[in-house]
Amino acid sequence: MSGLVIAIDGPAASGKGTLARRLAAHFNLPHLDTGLLYRATACALLDEGLPLGDTAAAVAAARGLSLTDFDDAKLRTREMGEAASVVAADPQVRAALIDMQRNFAARAEGAVLDGRDIGTVICPDAKVKIFVTAGPETRAQRRALELAARGEEADYAGILADVKKRDERDSKRGAAPLSVADDAFVLDTTDLDIDGAFRAALAVVEEKSRGRKTG
Ligand code: CDP
Repeated sequence: MSGLVIAIDGPAASGKGTLARRLAAHFNLPHLDTGLLYRATACALLDEGLPLGDTAAAVAAARGLSLTDFDDAKLRTREMGEAASVVAADPQVRAALIDMQRNFAARAEGAVLDGRDIGTVICPDAKVKIFVTAGPETRAQRRALELAARGEEADYAGILADVKKRDERDSKRGAAPLSVADDAFVLDTTDLDIDGAFRAALAVVEEKSRGRKTG
């Protein structure tokens, strides 16, 4: 029997990455932050001085990614989040990244994946789907703290504008737009801290996997 797959989706800076990491540690499952795939693809283009709209180069970069080789500090900047959202709107780039993500999810032990289209496109059969959200102001505040902790300039108004722009682009694109899967549990973390969000998510996983045989 295949392992437990937990699909976590949500808008920019919703806390889905933190939640996915906590769940993966708790259940001893591998975790894939799929946003890094789009960030790394965009980064490869920018490093070569190529425009983000260069589909052929973006597809080649996406196909060449190695899941274990990400420079976190470089990829998690504001600039790269914005650039990632531009390349992520290209259906050919998304197609180039599908197998890598599905193979990760198909590991015998199971997996936790977080992104925008995990429950809708990548793992439509995932046992557990959680859509993590929070108000844009809360998300911008969290992202500002996160960036400040990394030493990046944290201009709240600019970050709030980024978050709103990215939400709009991610939700309105034709290819795998950010949307809530029909069978996803919506977890609004506006008034929850990390522990509160984790406890709520754990309750969802336990509820969904009740009666399920593991093996
Ligand atoms: O951490 P944050 O939520 O700000 O961003 P991320 O998850 O690293 O994703 C960066 C960008 O990649 C998003 O704005 C999306 O446009 C894109 N993305 C996507 O289209 N599909 C995914 N499964 C993951 C990310």
